[in-house]
Amino acid sequence: MTQMTNQNPEAGEVAPLIAKLAGYLEQDIGTARALPMEMYTSKALLDAEREHVLKREWLCVGRLEQVEAPGDYFTVELLGEPVVVVRDREGVLRAMSAVCRHRYYSVVEGAGNAKVFSCPYHKWGYGLDGCLRGAPHMDAVEELRKRGQSDRLPQLPLETWLGFIFVNLDPDAEPLLPRLADAEPHWSALGVEEWRVSPWVDEEWPGNWKLAMETALEGYHVNGLHPETFASFMPSRGTAFEATSEQWTLFRMETVFKGEFEVYRPFADRLTGKDQTTVPQFGFFPNCAVSCTQFNAIWLTFLPIDVDRTRVIGGNLVHPDLYKALEADAALRDSNAASIDRVNSEDASAMVGLQRNAASAHAEPGLLCEMERCLLYFYRYLAQRLEDGVRGA
Ligand code: FES
Ligand SMILES: [Fe+2]
Repeated sequence: MTQMTNQNPEAGEVAPLIAKLAGYLEQDIGTARALPMEMYTSKALLDAEREHVLKREWLCVGRLEQVEAPGDYFTVELLGEPVVVVRDREGVLRAMSAVCRHRYYSVVEGAGNAKVFSCPYHKWGYGLDGCLRGAPHMDAVEELRKRGQSDRLPQLPLETWLGFIFVNLDPDAEPLLPRLADAEPHWSALGVEEWRVSPWVDEEWPGNWKLAMETALEGYHVNGLHPETFASFMPSRGTAFEATSEQWTLFRMETVFKGEFEVYRPFADRLTGKDQTTVPQFGFFPNCAVSCTQFNAIWLTFLPIDVDRTRVIGGNLVHPDLYKALEADAALRDSNAASIDRVNSEDASAMVGLQRNAASAHAEPGLLCEMERCLLYFYRYLAQRLEDGVRGA
């Protein structure tokens, strides 16, 4: 642990919290306890997480199906940065800042297909590669004429993996794919790269982003929070840790096909070995989770708005056969969307409980169990990244 100096106020306030996180490097299940409440309420810690972790890490922002054709684009706000992801005319997939090079307006919002991006404020025009193509009534401005098309929307690192699109706000980011290669064998049997989203998710949860991530990292809560949606199909007792790395963590849950879930058995029967009876639940550090069954996978990315507010983007990926059925049947599509909404609301409800009790004098961190093992790895990851970040600041 580095000695923090008093000259850096951020380090001074955050250092004790990082030291507590670093304690998880030494602990194991049996003695490890939940994070202290202040980890979910400290604005200084959230600032450090934003600057030293989230703004330097790969953030899962979308799926390839959103940008299949040249001109297809979507926008996303990442930690206060407006970003556009676009497939340009040459077919190159790009991520870039959407902030106009003139006076800060967003050159594009929402999603669609475009030939150029025309800033709504004064109509500066940008090619799909981000280069400035035109600036009305600016001919007399010598400096702009000289810079010409070299004036460009800043490009951001982008990588794709199994149909997911990841963007990094750090232009010098290390590549992502080498860090995920060892995760692929654990779920390649499912064929998730072919699955399509129905429905998309974009909502706000009333709690800290780490708590949202934690909910996705353990199956212990299934019987408690999801008694009717998941508990009979994927009960807590079927949770088992499988593997972890610096970048990801994985546990599996048993699936039980009975009652209303009987119709999904054929999706499991197509698989072999343990994939027939168990399903992988991935956490991608720092803020993304993909919770699979044999026929769907709920992908969620957690973006902090404040210590007690989190924007959740993602979607429910479904097997192509199921996607076809949903496309053909509006009632089925609606009920599928309603059940995804219900499950997410159940997870979001965990946050209400924590925020309600945040000021309690009796909010003591309790012991963790083996089913919560992945939380340990999450805390260790955060400790390491925050230590490195604050040390380098
Ligand atoms: S702010 Fe974009 S053209 Fe003026
Ligand atoms: Fe859950």
